[in-house]
Amino acid sequence: MKNGICIETHNEDETIKVAQKIAGVLQKGDILLLVGDLGAGKTHFVKGLVKGVGGKDLVTSPTFTILNTYESGSVIINHFDMYRLSNMEEALELGFQEYFDKNTMNGVSVVEWPSQVEGLINPPYYMVEIKKTENQNTRKIYFGKVNK
Ligand SMILES: Nc1ncnc2c1ncn2[C@@H]1O[C@H](COP(=O)(O)OP(=O)(O)O)[C@@H](O)[C@H]1O
Ligand SMILES: [Mg+2]
Repeated sequence: MKNGICIETHNEDETIKVAQKIAGVLQKGDILLLVGDLGAGKTHFVKGLVKGVGGKDLVTSPTFTILNTYESGSVIINHFDMYRLSNMEEALELGFQEYFDKNTMNGVSVVEWPSQVEGLINPPYYMVEIKKTENQNTRKIYFGKVNK
């Protein structure tokens, strides 16, 4: 990622705190893509986002439901995990376009495994990439914005 920042965290709580800070920039209509291997910490990052907007919802992985919506904070957070989505058609059948169109969005959309729905999501969006390191609990978190 060009023009981004990189922060290192050493446990899940630090990752949650980084996300809490980043939540401060998020506004209705924003999209944030979350990239990283299984177990990198994407879902924990979303815990921090929800906390950061003052939400009290329990954040769990939407692996099987694909979408969890958290409404108790100052902005609605739609949390997608596209991992189990079979194909783009399924995303369209489920009506996901409305969550990635500024004109119809009811809040912020955060997406784990966005590569599963390439073409559905267009810039501008924020991007977070979480990378595992040799150290079991250390993560490198890259944060930036893609404008086009
Ligand atoms: N620095 C860290 N940041 C986030 N999670 C970490 C960190 N170190 C260890 N972990 C662990 O890694 C796992 C991340 O899980 P999860 O957030 O569900 O990942 P993902 O959604 O990317 O698959 C958790 O078990 C968490 O405790
Ligand atoms: Mg996850």
